[in-house]
Amino acid sequence: MAENTLMEKLVSLAKRRGFVFQSSEIYGGLGSVWDYGPLGVELKKNVKDRWWRAMVHARDDIEGLDAAILMHPRVWEASGHVAGFTDPLVDCKQCKNRFRADDKRIKGTPGQPDAQCPVCGSKGTLTEPRLFNLMFKTFMGPVEEQAAIVYLRPETAQGIYVNYQNVLNSSRQRVPFGIAQIGKAFRNEITPGNFIFRTREFEQMEMQFFVKPGTDMEWFERWREWRMEWHKSIGLTPTKLRWHAHGPGELAHYAKAAYDIEYEFPFGWQEIEGVHNRSDFDLGRHQEFSGKKLEYFDQAANERYLPYIVETSAGADRVTLTLMADAYREESVEGETRVVLGFDPGIAPIKAGVFPLVKKDGMPELADRIYHDLKKQFPVFYDDSGAIGRRYRRMDEAGTPFCITVDGDTAAGQTVTIRARDAMTQERVGITQLGEYIGSRIRGA
Ligand code: GAP
Repeated sequence: MAENTLMEKLVSLAKRRGFVFQSSEIYGGLGSVWDYGPLGVELKKNVKDRWWRAMVHARDDIEGLDAAILMHPRVWEASGHVAGFTDPLVDCKQCKNRFRADDKRIKGTPGQPDAQCPVCGSKGTLTEPRLFNLMFKTFMGPVEEQAAIVYLRPETAQGIYVNYQNVLNSSRQRVPFGIAQIGKAFRNEITPGNFIFRTREFEQMEMQFFVKPGTDMEWFERWREWRMEWHKSIGLTPTKLRWHAHGPGELAHYAKAAYDIEYEFPFGWQEIEGVHNRSDFDLGRHQEFSGKKLEYFDQAANERYLPYIVETSAGADRVTLTLMADAYREESVEGETRVVLGFDPGIAPIKAGVFPLVKKDGMPELADRIYHDLKKQFPVFYDDSGAIGRRYRRMDEAGTPFCITVDGDTAAGQTVTIRARDAMTQERVGITQLGEYIGSRIRGA
């Protein structure tokens, strides 16, 4: 399948089945901002729940946090975002469009007479590159003045650094330990795109691990391994995952070492998560800018130090897109194309469809009872409209791993058929066994 076609098909399926809609669509949409529909919100929630379980609940050395989006403006001076979170941009004086200075469509050198605007085609109308900060600004309080500027956070990490002592003092943790957080981040991206891959509002799943200097590279390696395993555990195809090491020219201002976990999307290999050794840059800067001591006192060794930080930073939206792209397939079945989202059962938004074969002979009543029983344990979907084959296809597109059908034999034998999404095979299972049948197949969820 052509690469662009696959993305177009995904966008269309996402809308048709209620995964993702364009924001404010009835007003023509808002650039690179997306809304999650009934299935999308379940899928993304499963991603976040799996991450939280692996990072917080399953470990003794990580605590959770939910810091506010708005923070003291000095935080962003200390973090380096006010001075350095910028992209060089050029404007066209003719058509007023704005581009990244490295936009491949620009011919010639911006600022020079030979440079040509990629939109209106005018020559010599592009300005010299100017630095543009990617943080969204707003005002706190009733007066819109310089002193009232606050930023929508461009990463969740800073909320963790400024709370590191609060968490340490209120929990039983000792270094090495971590703080995990899931939350919204905002970036005024100049070249967003590829659906929910790069957007202006997105969610991050970040964990900052505080370690003794000198042990940082060991922890960095451990975290690399654990994070790659997690992506495999949610069902991503291992051969489509790889590491990208940041070379010296690529390293962010805070990083001593950095690796990206990349996935092979239809539009190429792209980052889905970063693992960074941030050294003592962040705590050092916050100590300097706030004037508060942020050192850790190691009682056992009777020494003080500023912990180093190993960060793991993944995008919840990006992982959601990755799961959808990875799961999408088309098959020819009896001369018709079957579209399937082959999600791992644990990550699928709906675990089972429940259908009465026909709308008579007590089948709807039985199916309704099964549906309501299962609904107490899993997200399930009731469907009695149209031919059974069409109902299967709708569930295939939603990525639902099991379809339960109540038929003419159900009442007498208290059994139903369960049809498996991938193999399309059917087996008869007792009604009382359904909970265990589905539950055992979504373990890890
Ligand atoms: N605290 C470090 C940090 O924010 P980053 O590499 O800029 O590092 C980490 O971002 C992750 O956040 C990325 O791997 C990606 O999954 C997600 N992300 C970053 N910018 C994004 C955007 N504009 N849209 C969607 N996800 C984004």
